[in-house]
Amino acid sequence: MLRGERVILRAFERDDMKTLHELQKNVDLVLLSDGEWEPWPLAASEKHFEKHLEDQERSGFIIEVDGVVIGGCGLHHSHRRDGSTQFGIGIHHPEYVGKGYGPDAIRVLLRWAFHVQNWRRVWLTTLACNERALRAYQKLGFVEEGRLREESFFDGKYVDVLQMGMLRREWEARQ
Ligand SMILES: CC(C)(COP(=O)(O)OP(=O)(O)OC[C@H]1O[C@@H](n2cnc3c(N)ncnc32)[C@H](O)[C@@H]1OP(=O)(O)O)[C@@H](O)C(=O)NCCC(=O)NCCS
Repeated sequence: MLRGERVILRAFERDDMKTLHELQKNVDLVLLSDGEWEPWPLAASEKHFEKHLEDQERSGFIIEVDGVVIGGCGLHHSHRRDGSTQFGIGIHHPEYVGKGYGPDAIRVLLRWAFHVQNWRRVWLTTLACNERALRAYQKLGFVEEGRLREESFFDGKYVDVLQMGMLRREWEARQ
């Protein structure tokens, strides 16, 4: 497992599915990821888990604080040849949002991505209206790489999506 100042990042286990399914009930937080929420039954989440059990294209982590599962984060290795991997995070436990656990988890994940897994670039997309996420990513050193105008439908209207990225040399310069 990977340790931050306050969070632990560890592998997803089959037993986590029920907890994660419960967290999906916090629709407002889930919607912030990409504007999407579907009433998935637990059985569908379990099937998804089984399907991706040995998926080399993803590195998924549970984020835990003092034994409480607060969400997940991970990398999706869609561009291995380019050394570029996509990052995503969702803290879906309402009592743990806005308290700095996200940046703590992201710092640990970035160190692992750049200095253990030898990725060269980490990128992400976020709804331009997701101010908390934007602020967190900017403070961590992600820079805006592009704006997809009216890319997503969120809360009844089309909103821009920002692509942000960080190069390993930029991350190293900040350490
Ligand atoms: C985005 C996310 C990872 C950020 O992690 P977090 O631990 O909540 O972030 P922080 O508490 O450090 O807050 C980040 C910054 O936003 C500010 N902030 C907190 N709540 C805010 C709000 N409602 N609106 C605007 N800014 C807010 C904080 O003050 C902080 O800035 P500061 O460091 O200058 O004080 C987490 O909130 C999350 O997963 N949210 C739900 C799903 C989501 O949005 N996922 C990201 C999809 S791209």
